[in-house]
Amino acid sequence: MRSFTLSTKWTALFVLFTALCCLFTPTVTVKHELFKTCDQAGFCKRNRAFADSASATGWETPYKIAPESLSWKNGQLQGTILKTINKNGETVRLLITISFLESGSARVTIDEEKRQKGEIDLRHNSKARKERYNEAESWAIVGGLELSKTAVEFRDAATSTVKYGPDGKFEAVITYAPFGIDFKRDSATQIKFNDRGMLNVEHWRPKIDKPEPEKKEGEEAPAPEVQTGEDESTWWDESFGGSTDSKPKGPESVGLDITFPGYAHVYGIPEHAGPLSLKETRGGSGNHEEPYRLYNADVFEYIMDSPMTLYGAIPFMQAHSKDSTVGVFWLNAAETWIDIIKQKEAHNPLSLGIGSRIDTKTHWFSESGLIDVFVFLGPTPKDVTKAYGELTGYTQLPQEFAIAYHQCRWNYNTDEDVKDVDRKMSKHQIPYDVIWLDIEYTHEKEYFTWDPLQFPDPIGMLKQLDKSERKLVAIIDPHIKNNGYHIVEDLKKKDLAVHNKDGNIYEGWCWPGSSHWIDCFSPAAIKWWVSLFKYDTFKGTMHNLFIWNDMNEPSVFNGPETTMPKDNLHYGNWEHRDVHNINGMTFHNATYQALLERKKGEIRRPFVLTRSFYAGSQRLGAMWTGDNQASWDHLAAAFPMVLNNGIAGYPFAGADVGGFFGNPEKDLLTRWYQAGAFYPFFRGHAHIDTRRREPYLAGEPYTGIITRALRLRYALLPAWYTAFHEASVDGTPIIRPQYFEYPGDEAGFAIDDQFFVGSTGLLAKPVVKEGADSVDIYLPDEEIYYDYFDYQKYSGRGSKTISAPLEKIPLLMQGGHIIPRKDRPRRSSGLMKWDPYTLVIALNKEGSAKGELYVDDGETFDYQSGAYIHRSFEFKDGVLASMDIGKKGKLTDKYLKTMKGVRVERIIIVGAPKEWEGKKSVKTGKGEAGLEFHGEEGGKASWAVVRNPGVAIGENWKIEF
Ligand code: GLC
Repeated sequence: MRSFTLSTKWTALFVLFTALCCLFTPTVTVKHELFKTCDQAGFCKRNRAFADSASATGWETPYKIAPESLSWKNGQLQGTILKTINKNGETVRLLITISFLESGSARVTIDEEKRQKGEIDLRHNSKARKERYNEAESWAIVGGLELSKTAVEFRDAATSTVKYGPDGKFEAVITYAPFGIDFKRDSATQIKFNDRGMLNVEHWRPKIDKPEPEKKEGEEAPAPEVQTGEDESTWWDESFGGSTDSKPKGPESVGLDITFPGYAHVYGIPEHAGPLSLKETRGGSGNHEEPYRLYNADVFEYIMDSPMTLYGAIPFMQAHSKDSTVGVFWLNAAETWIDIIKQKEAHNPLSLGIGSRIDTKTHWFSESGLIDVFVFLGPTPKDVTKAYGELTGYTQLPQEFAIAYHQCRWNYNTDEDVKDVDRKMSKHQIPYDVIWLDIEYTHEKEYFTWDPLQFPDPIGMLKQLDKSERKLVAIIDPHIKNNGYHIVEDLKKKDLAVHNKDGNIYEGWCWPGSSHWIDCFSPAAIKWWVSLFKYDTFKGTMHNLFIWNDMNEPSVFNGPETTMPKDNLHYGNWEHRDVHNINGMTFHNATYQALLERKKGEIRRPFVLTRSFYAGSQRLGAMWTGDNQASWDHLAAAFPMVLNNGIAGYPFAGADVGGFFGNPEKDLLTRWYQAGAFYPFFRGHAHIDTRRREPYLAGEPYTGIITRALRLRYALLPAWYTAFHEASVDGTPIIRPQYFEYPGDEAGFAIDDQFFVGSTGLLAKPVVKEGADSVDIYLPDEEIYYDYFDYQKYSGRGSKTISAPLEKIPLLMQGGHIIPRKDRPRRSSGLMKWDPYTLVIALNKEGSAKGELYVDDGETFDYQSGAYIHRSFEFKDGVLASMDIGKKGKLTDKYLKTMKGVRVERIIIVGAPKEWEGKKSVKTGKGEAGLEFHGEEGGKASWAVVRNPGVAIGENWKIEF
């Protein structure tokens, strides 16, 4: 065990503090007392109480549209909602804007008229901005806001109806009193707003300081006067865990119920550790008691199957029923909670459940900001993710190395240590692309420095890695050590840090001890941050160094709920409360920008890993699921989490392979590598207190099995990269849950432990249970499935048992697909660049198959100018054809020239027809190539192989069988 490098008494004190509060002990689980329950968060409690009142009979929502206020212009409906605030009928005015977008999405925004005009007084002489936060859009949304040119509106005395979307198939019916909106597709209601009357905009109100009730001698103090019947105790300040949140703007939460009639499943709203299909949250057997919470936090030793918040937040939900998917995106950056209940609704009370349907009823509420909700009417999961991605952007197409294997631990101790691991991986012929440095590489946690004793020669280290095209990722966190070193001095001098409520620089504790936090909401701060990464500023770095951003929730060890006080102030004087969930993304963004500009003329796609994220983070790089544990339940929990992230538009995700805390048994480590080989982001990582566990240390048979899992990932990199390309153009997840690929198959809706890889037809179910030597895999259709490794055939809809001893990954190829591979083992993906391809054709029942391949230089942005290969392969009627499906750009020809020599070295046809027996060759256009046929054997499909067909990967060709 190694302890932190100490230098100052502050650091020593800090280490003592962390040792006391969060010393690693594998048996401890999350410290619940550090995080609020709904009851302990004032606005959550109030909104739940409000929901309870709304659910009581006789409730009438106090919100109605003033019909005369409505106006329709260019695809947008605007008007005033009147909120009745007391028995005298007094109202406050809210501004509602409903925008119908060209893409077919709709957007509903509700703001307060008064707040917009800045007419509010603030308590505590606060410097906080006098508006509701309205800049979430500028961080999360990058497109898709063009207003519809074809939407039309009709109005009558009680409603306004807008027809919009593709062929006018969508409809929004806005009812004035009580206010509500029904969104319909093909005349059937899919989504309802305020159906349950839970719309709640806590309007601005001045605090009326009431005199303390007089207490006469010998008497009990009289109960305070209750004005509204609401719980006002947390309106004006709120304490938790010893810190008090001054609330200069008073109560300002927003809430709305959103019902999905006929939808029994909802997915999304990461990040939580739990099943893909979200659970109900208002109690009942097997359900949660607490709402799902979104409040980015560094949750130490997080627990399984919980709606507790984690490091990131994407307030996007998909609702799914047989053959229909719809979605909502709640664009709000403040702390948010979501209640979910599912109710059986019988169409006919006498039908005894026949014809009954399940409605999923959700209730969303955020502490501050606007009501700003996007509505997606599908009808397929792909339509919904695509529409969401049009707004928030698609996954960044990463450099190819970024989707290969990453070797990390806290910490590689010296530059010699790094070089040694690098050599040993090569010696054991274990492929890896990236080795990582955690916080100890710095000089006493001063980012942008190197520990001069442990890392005297970073460039030498980077150069050794570069020889085998390997990279280094170094961590840079947002807390800047407050010890007078040049970076913190600059930060202070330029006034680029987050401020406390009094407007002074905020100070808190993190890894370095006392720290300040860069405020990446500020354009000047971003500019400054960008300057710090230039090669001549961040000495000891070169082109093969990339960055890891951690602790950006932000994690503050001595802050409330391990983060910043909500009354801290950011650029523009927005309270931290308003922007908390976006904070991590702004830091990630600044680092992304920095990596674009390290050296003039050297433009490479950045790679930045983040722990905290928000809607839109997918544009900037990968995320991982934080500090998991070396236990089987954490291994099992990772797939549902990664799948969920994918359907919420952020598929470049993975979990720490091996588990961060604790020492995995060798079989757990081995199974974890087999699983990790299917994480879009694939990194082994471990806590500083754990034993070393580089794959070569495991010993046989484990090292061999792990190496095979790694090689499988490398062989399939062409297929993975093609899936990343697809995600980067239309938002499709990289690993896809069953419902996503088979939206009509109800049996698959809750399955989250098996998945498809991109559009390759690869169906995987890695073993995540201790001691399991088989898995039951669910087949959604009548197609033939072949075992990836030995071509064992499986068919018939339903569950099939696949034997899975430790050395085996349950992986099937669905008939009808062509999978591109590169089979030559190499040290890194960079060294595979010019390697020939293998095409694996898994024939379907009709004897045909299709597939795609996307290739580019894996490094630069040249693909944006056409420097890429995009092929469609088809095998049909005994002919295999390769067709160009790319678009030509100015760099296409140049790129194709470089790829001229890259060929197909092997074609494997699985399920090859019997008639091929005795066939010795195929026609390739230029001549002939040999064919070798292997007959069916004991349930294993027949297969054939064609070697060296003499065709290039970047050209059109045909091969006749
Ligand atoms: C956080 C990260 C973890 C990292 C550690 C030290 O706990 O989640 O991955 O190793 O900080 O930087």
